[in-house]
Amino acid sequence: MTARPSDALSGSLRLPGDKSISHRALMFGGLAVGETTIDGLLEGEDVLRTAAALRALGAEISRDAEGRWHVWGRGVGGLGEPEDVLDMGNSGTGARLLLGILASHPLTAVLTGDASLRRRPMARVTEPLSDCGATFIAREGGRLPLTVIGARDPLPLDYRLPVPSAQVKSAVLLAGLNAPGTTRVVEREATRDHSERMLRHFGAEVVTREIDDEGHPAQEILLTGQPELTGRRVLVPADPSSAAFPLVAALLLPGSEVRLTAIGMNPQRIGLITTLKEMGGDITLENAREEGGEPVADLLVRGSKLRGVEVPAERAPSMIDEYPVLAMAAAVAEGRTVMHGLGELRVKESDRLATTARGLALCGVEVEERPETLVVQGAGGRPPGGNNQAIQTELDHRIAMSFLVLGLAAERPVQIDDMTPIATSFPDFTALMTGLGAEIAES
Ligand code: S3P
Repeated sequence: MTARPSDALSGSLRLPGDKSISHRALMFGGLAVGETTIDGLLEGEDVLRTAAALRALGAEISRDAEGRWHVWGRGVGGLGEPEDVLDMGNSGTGARLLLGILASHPLTAVLTGDASLRRRPMARVTEPLSDCGATFIAREGGRLPLTVIGARDPLPLDYRLPVPSAQVKSAVLLAGLNAPGTTRVVEREATRDHSERMLRHFGAEVVTREIDDEGHPAQEILLTGQPELTGRRVLVPADPSSAAFPLVAALLLPGSEVRLTAIGMNPQRIGLITTLKEMGGDITLENAREEGGEPVADLLVRGSKLRGVEVPAERAPSMIDEYPVLAMAAAVAEGRTVMHGLGELRVKESDRLATTARGLALCGVEVEERPETLVVQGAGGRPPGGNNQAIQTELDHRIAMSFLVLGLAAERPVQIDDMTPIATSFPDFTALMTGLGAEIAES
């Protein structure tokens, strides 16, 4: 697939549903009693894997129109042993959150995934989850495939997150659902709170409090175990992490004017918008409102002249999936952009610090990769672009989409080696982008 230098983009887009919220809607629906109706579910491969896994565990799931799904759950603790291996595909969120659920069910299950997921660390969830009484037999480094033998009499957990990870936080809370007493998670850096919001929506008692954690400001999340979750209606906002691609493309192409509707504006997800505004991006929030327990707004984006900035490490949890596309904006901006605190990027679908830096260098952009920092020297206009060698995307959807965005705003076309991973989170990416005027086509 190749993206060619393009003119201004224009139009209005409704982007696909939020991936994080879609996984959670299916999972909480599977643990609730009665019917859950989901509108706007992301029908990407990652979420479809979660739906398949929940069916294998006994939840009834059906779809009656695009984005409209129904789940009939089995109640907290009510899922059954799957007959076969659960293949979570490319999805770290699907695998880690499901391990939380399985840890406190009296059953044995085997999880696997694609080559990317089988490389990713699972010890960050299996270690805390072992304390509830579950046993895990994994490959070296706690990697998939792994077997989980869930606890018969699960214990509540009390865990301080060693890395800012909403996946780990959510896995612990999900395990705590089927344990008596209070499960507690402490986080020093706030991460996305979709699980907490949705647990409350389904009827669980979840309290979040500011605390002092050995001299550090932190927050604790307290979940009262063994609630009765009741089936609900869930409205999934459009995914800010998918919106990031047309958003950055519109900013980079002079004269563009694009409206993105009903985008999730959870405070822990909008670090990219803050950063792009600091860079001089013309982004207007319209119609700010709440839908289904999450803040949403429409975004009006206009082509802008961007300048380089320093992105502080504290901002990383709120834009953790957006650094590759921010790096593309930085390549076009005037001056240097320094992004700090990126250690977690090394354990995403690919080592995103390395894949981003390698790809940018191939496109003639001056870039420096440090252990936890990325420095991009902007061209102050169109950077050179591809040199007839395809960018290696390493089964990483966000790397694939980021470099296609760069190709629109570079002097020469940019080609990527593999388009297929994009279907994990944004199946209609090419159609929606070309609809705005982007030149993206089979090479
Ligand atoms: C996610 C949390 C983030 C993010 C991922 C989705 C979630 O991962 O990168 O795409 O839905 O909880 P970490 O929590 O591991 O940083």
